Amino acid sequence: MRRLAFALAAVVISAPALAQAPDPALVERGAYVARAGDCTACHTAPAAGSAPFAGGYDIPSPMGPIVSSNITPSKTHGIGNYTLDDFTRAVREGIAANGTHLYPAMPYTAYAGVSDEDIAALYAYFMLSVEPVDTSPPKTELPFPFDYRALMIGWNLLYGGHGFTPSPGAGGQVQRGQYLVETLGHCSTCHSPRNLLMGEERSRFLGGGTVGGWIAPNITSDPVAGIGGWSEDEIVAFLRDGDVPGRGVAGGQMAEAVEHSLRHLTDDDLRAIAAYLKTVPPVADPGLTRPAYGWSEARPIAVTTFEPGNGPMQADLADATTLDGAILFNAACATCHGIDGAGTPDGTFPSLTANATVGASSPANLVLTIASGVDREGADGHAFMQTFGAELTDAQIAAVATYVTSRFGNPDISVDEPTVALLRAGGPPPWILGAAPWLVAIAGGIVALIVVGLVSLLFFRRSRRYQPA
Ligand code: HEC
Ligand code: HEC
Ligand code: HEC
Repeated sequence: MRRLAFALAAVVISAPALAQAPDPALVERGAYVARAGDCTACHTAPAAGSAPFAGGYDIPSPMGPIVSSNITPSKTHGIGNYTLDDFTRAVREGIAANGTHLYPAMPYTAYAGVSDEDIAALYAYFMLSVEPVDTSPPKTELPFPFDYRALMIGWNLLYGGHGFTPSPGAGGQVQRGQYLVETLGHCSTCHSPRNLLMGEERSRFLGGGTVGGWIAPNITSDPVAGIGGWSEDEIVAFLRDGDVPGRGVAGGQMAEAVEHSLRHLTDDDLRAIAAYLKTVPPVADPGLTRPAYGWSEARPIAVTTFEPGNGPMQADLADATTLDGAILFNAACATCHGIDGAGTPDGTFPSLTANATVGASSPANLVLTIASGVDREGADGHAFMQTFGAELTDAQIAAVATYVTSRFGNPDISVDEPTVALLRAGGPPPWILGAAPWLVAIAGGIVALIVVGLVSLLFFRRSRRYQPA
């Protein structure tokens, strides 16, 4: 009798759970939302065969690598015990279920505006269809004072995210694009400049930022500094395929965004993003005379440089010591991009003229493309350029990059060996990194002064109180 009562109770208790039995449409929507939010880019380790969403990817930050968490529904190592509320708080506010403040390497500042419906769909997707993985990634260990996670409370007050407010008066398509760009796509986490404390500068939204040495260019509607000169079709093609002849190529972190996220979005959503980007207020750069892709004429060369037998072949590059940019270009680049830099007509090997990376006002992306290559899956297939980071020294990379900008891009741009070394190490450190020890010392000094003040005040009072009559 008692047993039956227990069994009945169990059925009654699990009834609500049954009522929430996997709703395939919700889970499917959650899978799409996860694509649009690119959760996999950071939560699945890049090594082939890594378990999806089991974490362990070191996300480079100026303060040191931040390791992504296991977000599979494992009850012991992942988020299996998260309620919908816990999940919402982690994704929108950057606070884990145990109260830990997450670092903004998890882009909760952007996800703050994700709609309730999309969060519920994401939750259903992770809980019901992701395979639990019972392993934990290593812990993140940042240097003092950044290991003190409560610092994020103050930072969040200043720079934390906020809900999504659609632009008033914009049509439904533009508002959908704005939603995707501002929230799930977290485009501004790379494409907006940051201030001294690493907060995004709202007044220069999408005006260009840096990420691990790469430049995430200005993608506002400014026709010279931004992508105002790109047609909507070109923007859609770039996000879907990762390359647009005469405009640019998605390398670096943009290649990852295309591969894992953007190429999987519906055509309607990509069109919405393009339509919205056309409306983003321009952020101008008075120093620029033409857009990065606007250097379309190759400057002439001395053909003798390229006569057979003059300089090393590609296979001998690792042993070559020359610092002559023309000879290095001939050996390392010309086989694919052509001696005249024109690439192939079908764009398999892109032209180096009218190429945003070559014509940019900073050589950073050109240097890093040479050092780390291109390896990207786009909707139109695989794009691959080998890395030259091992074959060429920093000085040789500087020489060939300077040759490339002077012949195919902005001739005023050159690059030297220390700059190449700095870029390859992740770019110039942000101000906050150098300032942190000083800030801590100043804060410590203020605390010490307050303590001394309080103590002497107490002492003063006491000595007054106990004054002999
Ligand atoms: C740009 C990289 C990045 C992206 C994209 C990203 N995350 Fe994260 N996420 C992280 C990192 C890094 C951490 C750990 C942060 C820390 O330790 O402070 C984290 C932590 C979390 C946590 C906290 C888990 C715990 O208990 O520690 C949850 C939940 C989470 N992410 C969910 C998501 C979801 C859902 C998405 C997609 C909508 C997503 N993340 C996209 C980098 C990312
Ligand atoms: C993780 C960082 C990151 C995120 C997130 C990101 N981008 Fe990018 N993006 C880059 C980088 C880096 C480049 C430069 C790539 C290159 O030159 O090879 C780039 C290039 C671009 C370009 C080409 C601009 C030009 O002038 O050449 C466009 C357009 C673009 N991104 C749009 C977007 C949109 C829209 C989103 C959000 C849906 C987005 N990006 C999200 C890092 C990012
Ligand atoms: C094996 C052929 C090959 C060689 C050799 C090669 N490239 Fe590339 N390069 C490519 C391919 C393929 C792409 C990407 C095309 C795409 O994304 O559709 C590319 C892209 C580029 C881009 C645009 C990258 C971006 O992110 O915007 C630049 C700039 C570039 N290469 C410069 C060079 C230079 C300089 C050298 C010599 C040091 C070189 N390439 C050697 C095949 C090659």
